[in-house]
Amino acid sequence: MKFLFLIVFIYLLPQCTGKPLIRDDCHQHTFEEIKREIAGYSDIAKAIINLAVNGNAQNRSYERLANFVDTIGPRLSGSKNLEMAIKYMFRVLQEDGLENVHLEPVKVPHWERGEESAMMLAPRNHSIAILGLGSSVATPPEGITAEVLVVTSFDELHKRSQDAKGKIVVYNQPFVSYEETVKYRLLGAVEAGKVGAVASLIRSIASFSINSPHTGWQWYQSDVPKIPTACISVEDAEMMARMSSRGTRIVVTLKMGAKTYTDIVSFNTVAEIVGSKYPEQVVVVSGHLDSWDVGQGAMDDGGGAFISWEALSLIKDLGLRPKRTLRLVLWTAEEPGGVGAEQYYQLHKGNISNFDIVMESDSGTFMPMGLAFTGSDKARAILKEIMQLLQPINVTNIYENGGETDTDYWVRNGVPGASLRDDISKYFWFHHTQGDTMTVQDPSQMNLCAAVWTVVSYVIADIEEMLPR
Ligand SMILES: *[C@@H]1O[C@H](CO)[C@@H](O)[C@H](O)[C@H]1NC(C)=O
Ligand SMILES: *[C@@H]1O[C@H](CO)[C@@H](O)[C@H](O)[C@H]1NC(C)=O
Ligand SMILES: *[C@@H]1O[C@H](CO)[C@@H](O)[C@H](O)[C@H]1NC(C)=O
Ligand SMILES: *[C@@H]1O[C@H](CO)[C@@H](O)[C@H](O)[C@H]1NC(C)=O
Ligand SMILES: [Zn+2]
Repeated sequence: MKFLFLIVFIYLLPQCTGKPLIRDDCHQHTFEEIKREIAGYSDIAKAIINLAVNGNAQNRSYERLANFVDTIGPRLSGSKNLEMAIKYMFRVLQEDGLENVHLEPVKVPHWERGEESAMMLAPRNHSIAILGLGSSVATPPEGITAEVLVVTSFDELHKRSQDAKGKIVVYNQPFVSYEETVKYRLLGAVEAGKVGAVASLIRSIASFSINSPHTGWQWYQSDVPKIPTACISVEDAEMMARMSSRGTRIVVTLKMGAKTYTDIVSFNTVAEIVGSKYPEQVVVVSGHLDSWDVGQGAMDDGGGAFISWEALSLIKDLGLRPKRTLRLVLWTAEEPGGVGAEQYYQLHKGNISNFDIVMESDSGTFMPMGLAFTGSDKARAILKEIMQLLQPINVTNIYENGGETDTDYWVRNGVPGASLRDDISKYFWFHHTQGDTMTVQDPSQMNLCAAVWTVVSYVIADIEEMLPR
């Protein structure tokens, strides 16, 4: 018996040593086989690129986005505009002939900024441009008038905590990167509230400014007094820092009419191309439909939402149907902290083993540079081969950190994640400002982004095996 076993074992051995990628059994494709399989998509990739960049679909994602943005305008969580935007998308996705177009209800925050203003009274009268931060409380109707304490960091605030009581804290932190600096917006009011400040004004998280405040969500803590909080322009933050370094006393009146209402029902918007062979397995392409209430959310995240729609349109137009289901999800209420996506995850995580990859574009649709990816080394090696199909437009790079706010729920739990990487050198000029309009978007850059998004999502949805975790 032992002898027989050995023969069987030796017989099986050569078949099993070909670097099986998915599971440790003998029926999986070797990396060489997968590489050949991917190279076989070269003509399809060229057809997608050609249709998006030079063909009938040239500028389509841009034109569709322009129509949408001009019709609906800004789409804050909880607003009537966001409701209209969802109805609009439900209609146009059906008109486009996509499958399983439907809305999935979720509860989202409803905050409105109301009337707001800030006036410097000393050392001179000066109107300060502000935008209240999402979830901020209001001031009393007559406003809060107080002396200003300018700090450049949380460390400086803690050192000068004795001076902060009864003051309006102005943060003049330098912009390092969004990831590094955004903590001042998220936690500035909490840190100022802890040391007895009456309000906080935060230098906008921006890499460039023409006196433009940049809004965004912020978080209170239940054990810290809630103080009104707004962002101010880089220019005003720097001016108040200069004044205060000369020992000049600064007094400001802040008025904010912000109000938080009870949560309301909104929807994640979904459309599909159902898979031909493994319809239960899904590749998610996504962007978020909500935006801030200033500007029009053309960049954040109209571009990401509309290149994701474009991916399904291009595949449909070419008469292609991948083996797996390609699912477009337009998340609702990303700006208050991925609220729609979190509920989507809770409702669908039972099927997590069937989620092949989750893709979100939420960092601009400027000149594409490649794809950021989070996943196993084996999956990354496969993605590297897929990116070679984008040689014709020279967008072959792979970067780290493929999760975005809405897809991170899946990525943290082991699903491969990808996000679009593009030239963000101007992204934080416009982010969360009145300047986020169609004027920022460029049709030929969007064509290239759509081509990248489509080739990657189609090939992952169509190769024989799911990406290894
Ligand atoms: C697409 O946009 C570019 C840049 O604005 C323009 O030159 C080109 O004519 C447009 N193509 C179509 C088909 O509208
Ligand atoms: C500053 O504004 C206050 C209140 O609006 C006004 O009473 C005062 O005259 C102004 N000061 C100057 C120098 O314009
Ligand atoms: C899970 O997947 C199955 C098969 O595709 C589907 O019928 C079911 O609706 C999915 N459940 C959820 C909660 O998404
Ligand atoms: C391709 O892109 C890289 C950057 O990823 C750039 O350095 C190179 O010049 C580009 N090549 C062409 C032919 O445009
Ligand atoms: Zn966004």
